[in-house]
Amino acid sequence: MTSNDARTVRLDIASRLDMLDMVQTVLSHLAGVVGFDEESVHYMTVALRESVVNAIRHGNRADERRRVNIEFVVGERSLEVRVQDEGAGFDPNTVPDPLAEANLLKPDGRGIFFMRSFMDAVEYSFPPGGGTMVRMVKRVPEDGALRTS
Ligand SMILES: Nc1ncnc2c1ncn2[C@@H]1O[C@H](COP(=O)(O)OP(=O)(O)OP(=O)(O)O)[C@@H](O)[C@H]1O
Ligand SMILES: [Mg+2]
Repeated sequence: MTSNDARTVRLDIASRLDMLDMVQTVLSHLAGVVGFDEESVHYMTVALRESVVNAIRHGNRADERRRVNIEFVVGERSLEVRVQDEGAGFDPNTVPDPLAEANLLKPDGRGIFFMRSFMDAVEYSFPPGGGTMVRMVKRVPEDGALRTS
């Protein structure tokens, strides 16, 4: 076991939207352990929900037999979340910009934009075995007081 394993929590879930609340509960708990304030936890929750919904809908096409793996790595002042599906992958560079004039009135296409807005880093990768992996990191700001209680 490496020191990173000691700080890692893994969830392996079916592609069902009714898993979202459970995933959110784990995130809130771990974010509290790191010491994020309530507002940060809220925004991280939105980002994680968007990534898991994408993994279920776009990646696994809502096929309940396909799994979504979620890994949380608890840092001293950061939380990293990795979400991996079993889909065909996609090209993140071709995703339309929701802030472009032509897209402003569209009801969807905002998930990745929210993830990038609310997290400090968002990186996509496409493992050789297939699927999409998105890695997101949130850090406690330098001037952010850690919760002590
Ligand atoms: N895990 C994934 N696997 C395959 N394609 C994906 C994945 N995540 C995102 N995409 C592609 O990127 C596009 C943009 O995703 P984004 O979350 O920004 O918008 P959306 O899911 O279409 O709408 P919204 O999230 O606002 O309901 C998706 O429409 C889909 O084509
Ligand atoms: Mg989405």
